[in-house]
Amino acid sequence: MVSPRILLLALGTVLMGCGGGQASDAPANSGTVSDAQARNLYVRKCSLCHGDDGKLGASKSPDLSISTLSLEERVALITYGKGTMPGQRGILNKDEIDAVARYIERFRE
Ligand code: HEC
Repeated sequence: MVSPRILLLALGTVLMGCGGGQASDAPANSGTVSDAQARNLYVRKCSLCHGDDGKLGASKSPDLSISTLSLEERVALITYGKGTMPGQRGILNKDEIDAVARYIERFRE
């Protein structure tokens, strides 16, 4: 049995963790996902099929380096998914989807 004191301590740490983040200049979800975070999201959510450079083509996925979709089209596709590509709605937030959609543009030659 975990003592109530330890539980309180743990809860306090969690609350302070959240509060600290929101007290900073940017409110939560205001659109600043760093490039490193975008890359991390891409690696976790996309490279399985598209590969590190967008060209893997696993699960019949198209080569992202020759994709001509606009940013809006990419955001919609990533949000809702298509065919075997899983949508990220409810998994990534809007800012994260936007950041990943921008991130993959670097694969174009
Ligand atoms: C399970 C494999 C899979 C995963 C994971 C996946 N995709 Fe896809 N992706 C596909 C497939 C398959 C298509 C083709 C969909 C179609 O047109 O039917 C596609 C299409 C696309 C396209 C459109 C390319 C074009 O020009 O037609 C983009 C952009 C894209 N994916 C980006 C992403 C991003 C960003 C992620 C991560 C959030 C991701 N994909 C995760 C399989 C995947």
